[in-house]
Order: sequence, then structure tokens, then C-alpha cells
Amino acid sequence: MGFEKKEGDAMLPPYSAAGPAKQQPRWRRRRPARLTRALKFLGLACLGFIVYAQWRQISTPNQPHHRNPSLLSVEKLQADLQTCAKLHKKPRDPKGLGRERNARYVDGHKPTLIKNATVWVGEPAEGTSAEDAWAGKGFAWINADVYMEYGLIKKVQKDISPKSLSSDTLVWDAKGRQLTTGIIDMHSHAGVDSLPELEGNDDTNEMSADITPYVRSIDGLQPQDHQIQVIKSGGVTTSLILPGSGNNIGGEAYPIKHAVGKPDGRPEISVADMLADPDRSWRYMKMACGENAKRVYGKVGEHGPVSRLGESWEFRRAFETAAKLNQAQDDWCARAEAAGIESMESYLPQDLKWESLGAALRGQVHVNAHCYTVPDLEAFVDHTNEFNFSVRAFHHAHQTYLVPEILKRAWGPTPPAAALFADNMWYKAEAYVGSEHAGHALWEAGLTPIYVSDNPVLNAQHVVFEAAKAFGYGLPYAVALASVTTAPAERLGLGERLGKVKPGFDADVVVWDSDPLSVGAAPVQVWIDGTAQFEDPVELEKPLKGPIDPKTTFEMPAEEPTEVADVVFTGIRTSYLPGLESTEDRSTRNLTVAVSKGKVTCVGVCAAELVAATKRIHLQNGHITKPFTAFGSLIGLNAIDAEDATDNGASTTQFSRAADGLHLGTKKLRYAHRYGVTRAISAPKYTSAGTHFGTSAGFRTWGHDTVLQDGAVFAEDVAVHYTLQEAAAKAGGEGSFSGAVGALRRKLLKAVGDEKTGNETADAFAEEAYLRRVVRGELPLAVTVHSADGIAGALKLKKQVEEASESRLTVVILGGAESHLVAAKLAAAQVGVVLSPLQSYRTSWDQRRALTGGRR
Ligand SMILES: *[C@@H]1O[C@H](CO)[C@@H](O)[C@H](O)[C@H]1NC(C)=O
Ligand SMILES: *[C@@H]1O[C@H](CO)[C@@H](O)[C@H](O)[C@H]1NC(C)=O
Ligand SMILES: *[C@@H]1O[C@H](CO)[C@@H](O)[C@H](O)[C@H]1NC(C)=O
Ligand SMILES: *[C@@H]1O[C@H](CO)[C@@H](O)[C@H](O)[C@H]1NC(C)=O
Repeated sequence: MGFEKKEGDAMLPPYSAAGPAKQQPRWRRRRPARLTRALKFLGLACLGFIVYAQWRQISTPNQPHHRNPSLLSVEKLQADLQTCAKLHKKPRDPKGLGRERNARYVDGHKPTLIKNATVWVGEPAEGTSAEDAWAGKGFAWINADVYMEYGLIKKVQKDISPKSLSSDTLVWDAKGRQLTTGIIDMHSHAGVDSLPELEGNDDTNEMSADITPYVRSIDGLQPQDHQIQVIKSGGVTTSLILPGSGNNIGGEAYPIKHAVGKPDGRPEISVADMLADPDRSWRYMKMACGENAKRVYGKVGEHGPVSRLGESWEFRRAFETAAKLNQAQDDWCARAEAAGIESMESYLPQDLKWESLGAALRGQVHVNAHCYTVPDLEAFVDHTNEFNFSVRAFHHAHQTYLVPEILKRAWGPTPPAAALFADNMWYKAEAYVGSEHAGHALWEAGLTPIYVSDNPVLNAQHVVFEAAKAFGYGLPYAVALASVTTAPAERLGLGERLGKVKPGFDADVVVWDSDPLSVGAAPVQVWIDGTAQFEDPVELEKPLKGPIDPKTTFEMPAEEPTEVADVVFTGIRTSYLPGLESTEDRSTRNLTVAVSKGKVTCVGVCAAELVAATKRIHLQNGHITKPFTAFGSLIGLNAIDAEDATDNGASTTQFSRAADGLHLGTKKLRYAHRYGVTRAISAPKYTSAGTHFGTSAGFRTWGHDTVLQDGAVFAEDVAVHYTLQEAAAKAGGEGSFSGAVGALRRKLLKAVGDEKTGNETADAFAEEAYLRRVVRGELPLAVTVHSADGIAGALKLKKQVEEASESRLTVVILGGAESHLVAAKLAAAQVGVVLSPLQSYRTSWDQRRALTGGRR
């Protein structure tokens, strides 16, 4: 095990606690007046001496000729001098090749041979020019065996004979499946923002101040956050665990590997054991500009920042303070080195508060800055040039694709990379300018796109899917795969150890059930430092299709849809159109679909249409389906999630209709339409996104300016929505989950009573009127709820109301993270489930038993 601190080149100076001598107290308290004269005299003499000594000590730093070495510890001065050497040491990327063993290797772990894999090395073929490599050319999937020993990849070549290897080698047959290095997620809060989220477990941001370079994510990292295992089941082996982005300077970050404790082959449960680089060659720091810090800290009249102007001041003030400390240290070191420690009259100036930021200015810390907008990026780049430090990556960097020149002006040898989501955007004002083609644009401009999760913002388990989408949005295959492997490895300063399948690299390896950049790709097995991580992993049976040809490219779609009267599509593999599933030409899987004046006129060979066609579009691997309908989201009811001005709002008391709140013509609706979602059914919010109260409206996403136009709204009231999701139910008017269930039952039973007595409801749009339509079975009741017992509550309620009304209720569960636990009961009651999110995720307590694919 190599995680214990080693004295050596790679180690950075540990902070030693003693401060400068001048901080000693200057005053002594007076002795009580009852002392004898002699004692008083002695006391006065002592006091005089102490004051004199103190005065000399305080004043000596300004009087270099005045020596008093006896007041300082020679040992400490010597240690300080050694610290000087470390202060000026420039870290280097740790080498991979040449190691006998990985510092993380656990004694006794057996070597492993993975046979017959289709391997992505992570490098182009030898002799590929730098330009071609940048263009993603020269990369290929190769057939090879991979031999791992002492936590390292030792051999990657064809037909390694097991006989040539040590007799205890574990042999694993990949059966031709695809093998890559472990995925690297360069922006994660796993462990500090543990799931399910509980107040007591949230250690994401140190919110006591805006500038906290002195805090460290490892001090709050919970190795037993189950999400660390879930993430690994998606093939992620290394993550950079950053403090949150509430602060302008959030603190130190650490790259970890996703192996924890004995079940994962580790000797113990500890954060130190998880560090990806036990030698801590580099340090890492999180900074953030833009909306967060001013929202979190700004208090007018009390403290800033309340604006981006104030944030830049906070940054510059902090850098200035750290630079002054560095200067004082450099001066001390220069003097001590020139004149010898015996002539020094103070210790090396040190200050724990500014030590890490000082190290950042010394180039020992990889700075990662969360900055979205052009002004944020430009201001931060200014700071880098004012204080001479480099940025490894701008994160959440949605607008970087617009200003590559600004990034190229950043201080340092290489411009920062842009760490992005593929298409998660528009959730706040600073994210409102963004493009799913940003990665492609950045790459064309010579900058490096990296895809990240910001776990738990996105479930890092699926971070490889961000790269897959980036590939679909135009990034070359090799560049997209690099964006979650070699590119983050290089930006972490670990590019000679992580991110490739080559001898000398850490043996973090994933074998996939399908191409990693295809939809639904999942690991079959994951190795970390050469140790298999899953004992009996479930493998879905998928046809072995072989890898995607890395030369595959996707054309950039037209910015806006174009209208044509007659068009013929060729190259369609499958038609899913009801009634138009072609029976012809299945063998070639090359169907033609002809569309004329808005109608599909032919699916199949379509010889006549092909001849007549004025416009032909050839598709690679085309599929034809009906368009999609979005259900349960907020599109149509808001434009920017975090901006109230753009939002319909939430109500826990006022039952309302989405049809009364629709606002068409938003960017979200335009994009929904562009990607095939032509209709949506949205309901008003109860407390926040993902909760519902009122009736949902069905409308078309695009093509109408207002709801008054014909066809804009296809159904005024689709379903009647209530939320029994636990946190929301408690936040709502009823104050408790049981209260919310009881209130809904009371309302439904009243509707049953009114139906029986014929008690008229004056307002046809009132909650009562809609509930009567529900108990009559005319409108579905959609219940938003995740927990198995919450769903059980909804099922009981359905039964009680049906018994009272003697009619059938149509009930739909929306959310449903734990619905698998009550699947049989749901089926028996004929209650459908709309999973939301689509891939269940244990973010909140009532979703904690969701099936995620990770180990339980
Ligand atoms: C490798 O796997 C493929 C696919 O399963 C199989 O066809 C081939 O025979 C295997 N080769 C060897 C050498 O086992
Ligand atoms: C930054 O570097 C430049 C040129 O190397 C130098 O002139 C300047 O003093 C440095 N600024 C700081 C704050 O160290
Ligand atoms: C698919 O069919 C179209 C139309 O018949 C033809 O032009 C095209 O060459 C075919 N492509 C392939 C790969 O067979
Ligand atoms: C009829 O409905 C009204 C309004 O909810 C209610 O106040 C009244 O008590 C109901 N009457 C009967 C007979 O249930």
C-alpha cells in the first residue's frame, strides 16, 4: 500500500503550524496588589525584561544587523529552509512506464489476463501526425489480450499465452467485446454530496465565507456514499471530487478511484486509500464565478459579493493576499539561503489560510473554475494574467464555444479545456446560452472538450453517455471517447498513468456490453488497479454488433427546420410506424420512405416515388417512428428553471389548470420540436420541478404563437394531478405525508358523495368539478410519488374510493422510483407508471430503493 506519506520529490510541503514569531502576546497581566514589596520589585524587573525581550523580538525583523538567534529554534529554522526548496518545486506529471508496481497495488492480488478483447488503446497508430490525431484520425479498435499485474497494465498484444504468465493468473474471456480504460469524470461531488440527500450528510460547500481556499473536499468525503458504487457500475473508475460552486473559491479537490473497502479489494475503508494518486503529485482547487456566489453570499449593506463586480474584487483580493505571502516567503528563503539560517531573526512566514492559494500561484495546484458566461470567462482570464496562474479547465463552460480567443488568452502554456454537459442547459440565466454542438465548435477552434456529470446534478453513472451524445452532436468518435478518458487524464496531470490501455498505465479497465458510445452501453466488468470490482455482474444479452467505425461522422443538422412538399428518405433500417411496418426489403435493411404534402405515401422499395422525387435524403442507419410526446415536464410552463420571471410559479393551495398558464414560443419548445418531440403534456408545479398540482394540458410544442391558434392545444385537461412525494407533501398545505394522503382521500370521497346526492358544483373549472370527473372515471388521476409505501398509499386510496363510488378510477403513478417493489400490486390494480426521471436515481430519501444497476 502506498498511500502513506512519503518523503520524496513528489511530495509538496505539508503545512507546519507555527506562525511567525511576532504573533506572541505583547502584554502580561499585572500581579495582584497584595504582594510584598520585594515580590513587587522582582515582578517589575521580570516584566521589564519580558517587555524588553518582546520589543527586541518584534523589532528585529526590521533591523537585520541585530541578531538574537537564541530566541529561535535551530531545528525549526532548518525545517523552514527545507520547506523553501519544496515551495519552489514545480510538480511534474507522474510517470507510468517504468513502475514495477502501482502505488495503489494491494499485496496478494493476482494478475489477470483478459483474452480476446476489442481494445481502444486511446492513442492513434504510430506515425500519425499531430494534426491527424487532433482530427480523430488514426484511431482504431484492435483485437488484443490485456495482461495486468501489480495494479498495472503490463501487456496489450495479440495471443498472450497463459503459459508465459505466472501460474496464479486469473483468465477472463472478453469474447470479443469492447474494452476501454476506466472512464474519468473530472467534475463530481460524490461522497461530499452523498445520496440520498440528507441535511446531515451534505458537505458540499463550506458556506461560512465566500473565499475558502483553505478547506478540502477529502475532509467531508464519505467513502460509504452508495453513489460511489453506482457510478462505478457505469464504468467510471476515477473522479475529481470538487467542493461545490457556492463559493468564489471553494477549496481543494481530490481525484479518487471508485474502490472502497474489502468488497472492492481494498485493505480498509478510508479516503486516503481512495486517492487516485497516493503520492499527491498535484493539488487541485475549485473556484466558481457567476450567479452562485452572489446569490449565496451577497447581503446588501452587510457583505458581498452581490454582483459579478464584487466577485472579481473577492478573487483579486484573495490572489493579492496569497501573492504577498508568497513574496514574504521568497524573501525569507532568499535571505536564509544567502546568509544562512543562523542569521535569521524570524521563522519562515506561513499562514494556513492562504497556503493553498499561495501554492496555486506557485503553479503547484491545478485550478478548475466554474464559469459559464462571456463576462465570467473574460474576467477570470484577466485574473490569470494579473496573478500569473493557469486554469486547467473551465467547468459548466457553456459559452466557451462562443469565445475560444478569450480562452487562448489565459495565462500559461496551454489554454484551459472546457468541461461541459452534452445538452443539459437553460436551467439558469447563465446557462441560457448554450449549444449541444458546443463540443464540436470548441474542438474545431483547437480547444479540448471534456464531458462531466457534476454528480449528483447528472448521475455520473451515465457520464459516458454525455460523450456518446457529443459524438451524435458532431464530435469525431475518437475525440468524443477522449473527452471522458485521455483528455480529463491529461488535465488532471495524470495523463501518463490514466486514460489509456497501454503498458505502464494503471490497470483501470472496462469491458462493455456494446460500443461505449452507443445508447444503453453498460459495463460487463470493471477493474480498478487490476482488481475486478463486481463479483457476479448481471449482463444483459445484447447482440454483439462490434464497434462503431471511428471514421463515422454525423452531419451538423440545419439550424432551423426546412419545409419541402415532396421528399424521399433512403437508408432506413426499420419503420416503427403503426400500419407501415414494411414487409419488403427486410434483407437489405434499406427501406425508402416517401413523404408528399405532409403524408407518408410509401414505405418500402418505393421505385416510382424515387424516380419522381425532387428531394432525396440518404440516412445512415435511419429509423422512422411516430413523433414523441413529453409528459410531466415543465415545458410550456417555464423557460429558465431558476428564473421566476420566466416561470408559471408553484402553488400548494391554489388548484389550477396548465391550460391557463401555457406560454408558447420558448427555446425549450423549439428544441423539443427539433428533436422529434412535437407534443407535450405539462401540469402546474406543486412545490418545485418534478411535483404537480392541477390539471395538465396537452399542446403542440411548435408552430403556434399563442394558445388561441387552431391546433395549438389538443387537450385542455388531460389528467388531474396531485403530489404525494414525501418532501413536497410535507412542504405543502397539509404539513405531513399522512396529512396529504388524508386530504386527497377526503376530497375524493366528497366528490363521490356529491355525485350520489347530485350536489351541483357551480364552477366547472373548480378542483371539485375535476374530482367528480375523476370519480366518474372520465379523467385519470395522476399521482406524483416515488416511495413504495407512497405508491401503496395511492393504491389503497384508489380502492377506498372505488368501493365508495362503485366505479373504476384511472390512476397513473408519475415518478415511481420504487415502483418495482410494488410491481405486482400495480399490475393487479391496472395502474400504470411513468418513470420520471427515466432512469431512476436515488437523489432523495423516498427514492433510496430505486434500481440503479449498482451494487446494493
Ligand atoms: C473472440 O470472440 C469472438 C466473438 O465471440 C469469437 O468469434 C472468436 O472466435 C474469439 N476468438 C478467440 C481466439 O477466442
Ligand atoms: C507575472 O509575470 C510577469 C512576466 O513574467 C511579471 O512581469 C509580473 O510581475 C508577474 N506578476 C505577478 C503578480 O507575479
Ligand atoms: C439504399 O437504397 C437506395 C434507394 O434504392 C439506393 O440509392 C442506395 O444505394 C441503397 N443503399 C445501400 C447501402 O444499399
Ligand atoms: C355540496 O357542495 C358544497 C360545496 O362543496 C358543500 O358546501 C355542501 O355541503 C355540499 N352539500 C351536500 C348535501 O353534500
